[in-house]
Amino acid sequence: MRIYDIIAKKRDGGVLTQPEIAFAVEGYVRGDIPDYQMSALLMAIYLRGMTDRETAELTEVMAKSGDMVDLSAIAGVKVDKHSTGGVGDKTTLIMAPMVAACGVKIAKMSGRGLGHTGGTVDKMEAVPGTRTALTQAEFFAQVNQIGISVIGQSGQIAAADKKLYALRDVTATVGCIPLIASSIMSKKLAAGSDAILLDVTMGDGAFMKTLDDALELARLMVAIGTAHGRQVAALITDMDTPLGQNIGNAMEVAECVAVLKGHGPADLTEVCVQLAANMLWLAGRGELAACRAMAEQTLADGTAFLKCCQLFAAQGGDISVLKDPKTFKQAAYRYELTAKTDGFIMKNDVEKIGNASVLLGAGRLKKEDGIDFSAGITMHKKLGDRVQSGDAICTFYANDPALFPAAEQMYRDGLVIGPEKPVLPPLVYARVTKDGVERF
Ligand code: URA
Repeated sequence: MRIYDIIAKKRDGGVLTQPEIAFAVEGYVRGDIPDYQMSALLMAIYLRGMTDRETAELTEVMAKSGDMVDLSAIAGVKVDKHSTGGVGDKTTLIMAPMVAACGVKIAKMSGRGLGHTGGTVDKMEAVPGTRTALTQAEFFAQVNQIGISVIGQSGQIAAADKKLYALRDVTATVGCIPLIASSIMSKKLAAGSDAILLDVTMGDGAFMKTLDDALELARLMVAIGTAHGRQVAALITDMDTPLGQNIGNAMEVAECVAVLKGHGPADLTEVCVQLAANMLWLAGRGELAACRAMAEQTLADGTAFLKCCQLFAAQGGDISVLKDPKTFKQAAYRYELTAKTDGFIMKNDVEKIGNASVLLGAGRLKKEDGIDFSAGITMHKKLGDRVQSGDAICTFYANDPALFPAAEQMYRDGLVIGPEKPVLPPLVYARVTKDGVERF
């Protein structure tokens, strides 16, 4: 077999066989196939697509390229959740404790932020002392003891994805449904949970810009997971505006605490309740309506907040900042960005908001970059809100005032204030299970 022939076959619209897919991926991971040939194959896949069978086979080969975690040492049903990425997307730190507070085990590996999107592991590390790299024995023991652990993804999970994703990132081949589906599902299958809830974000700030694409990605991922014997469902959630008001690591944790204590932003709370309800449903805890009531109860009676504190304390975090988020280290400087005209916020580009937060120090452009946990943005006016000239639209926080002008330019580039109130998108567009699509 020659990689040249596999590239040519896909370039001409052919359907690859399992041995051809395995030859390409395994050869690339071993270093036998160079980046330039794998780049050509990725571009051919990007342009020609893959059948469902090819995508499922690619996923399996990628999953088996690293460790396949065996969670059987943890008693009970283990559930996992994955978001396809967003800005101000802090749902894991809210819904995972909600679900664990209902007695369903969460053994979760999360990622770091890259580019304009944030990552759960960085947010966790904003709580001083929190360890996100546990040994497998520590990870299992913690889940058995308190029902929840959230750690960073180890280098051994889906090794092919790590290498392929880095290559896709620099060859303009990220935005391709079969490649995204196989990337996400290879990691989820390897991570070993029995049930997987997928949060497929859609809109300006997401990989999926249209509902049709989001539904297609969700359908494909649900089918791949189901074929591997996992319980899988997906919610298509909106990313035309960030969830909640805060973007930036410590500020997002503070907002999570507000939701867990029952006084967080309504949009963030509602999405977390729906995600938690669906995870409980996947874990077999009853009808969706009963699962929703269970999830809501954990916010009302404080058990989700207690579980969150237990999670951080078990991983070495100083939970005094959760008990009183005002004690988080604050940024030294703040800057208020004001409206220059009257009207409604008709557009507030999410990617640009995310990039503005990165410019303030809250995210990283390269994997090696450091993060300023106290930097970020609080949005006072969001999509659809009425503003008057001079109103504060958002506040920037940073430790160097020289960062404000570029962040302001970035934020304003994506901001449109106009005469008409836009029609606001729903928070959740649809739910996809193996039985079909439910649109809301
Ligand atoms: N998230 C992933 O893990 N992989 C992709 O390809 C896109 C989003």
